[in-house]
Amino acid sequence: MTETDFIAGLPKAELHLHIEGSLEPELMFALAKRNDVAIPFASVEEVRAAYSFSRLQDFLDIYYAGADVLRTTQDFHDLAIAYFDRAAADGVVHAEIMFDPQTHTARGIPFGTVIEGLLSGMAEAEAKHGMTSKLIMSFLRHLDEDDAFATLEAAKPWLDRIDAVGLDSSELGHPPEKFARVFAEARALGLRLVAHAGEEGPPEYVYQALDLLGIDRLDHGNRSLEDPVLTARLARTSMTLTVCPLSNLKLCVVDDMADHPIDRMLREGLRATLNSDDPAYFGGYIADNYRAAAAARGLDRDDLALLARNSFLGSFLPDDAVAAHL
Ligand code: HPA
Ligand code: ZN
Repeated sequence: MTETDFIAGLPKAELHLHIEGSLEPELMFALAKRNDVAIPFASVEEVRAAYSFSRLQDFLDIYYAGADVLRTTQDFHDLAIAYFDRAAADGVVHAEIMFDPQTHTARGIPFGTVIEGLLSGMAEAEAKHGMTSKLIMSFLRHLDEDDAFATLEAAKPWLDRIDAVGLDSSELGHPPEKFARVFAEARALGLRLVAHAGEEGPPEYVYQALDLLGIDRLDHGNRSLEDPVLTARLARTSMTLTVCPLSNLKLCVVDDMADHPIDRMLREGLRATLNSDDPAYFGGYIADNYRAAAAARGLDRDDLALLARNSFLGSFLPDDAVAAHL
């Protein structure tokens, strides 16, 4: 069996995926036309050529601009099912997808338009592919905590359809402590908690995510490795890290895939998983991430199977469903 077939055939969960980051240029153009929205690109090729980033903020600027074509429930449905179709081909059997409501509500798109479209895409994925999924509502950390509280309030009618809250966008200068109160409120409402930390931010931000937010899962976490005490704690507590190799390369978190720490994470006993983050922008879906990491760091099939196993262990599925996937 080829490596590509082995990876695609490995049942896996995707735990770090921004649905807005799965907007392929072709769909961006189609939605721009359908909604009569002007976009600053003449062709799909021009869009792809613009995807050259030297840090997180370069990407975020273009990612928020691209999301402007998303206007209707049908748009969010189409976005979601395009991702689920692609993920199913990569062997994803369960996906926990993030969405950024503030990116849309700030443009006057109602919260319900966004979530109803995503939920209908999720239902279609289950019917079509047998794929289960969960929603993670992410707060934009460059906005203030009051805005996050307002978002949590807007989500109240759909709380039973949302599994977790997350924290994304510009990390540097926006430490987790800024959101301690809204995360406490989300926890009190029965939601799970995840946060991006240690992507560009220092180990201190990971400590804050653990100690001040009380996260159940750590998005990225790469820079934790700079601190041996923190690394040992993450290993001892079986904290799941949602690692995104192609994203790390595109956003210059690593200079070269050959420098990626995924094998070191496994050696240190971390519960690392592989994910695609924003696949339309970073050059690949989840199987591409498995392939790139394996090729660059010499991961063998046992390592890849362990990464897939970790993805179920780190999911928010109930224990019996996790056990059924192992
Ligand atoms: N980091 C922070 N915010 C994000 C990302 C990311 O990789 N993708 C989408 N929003
Ligand atoms: Zn992310």
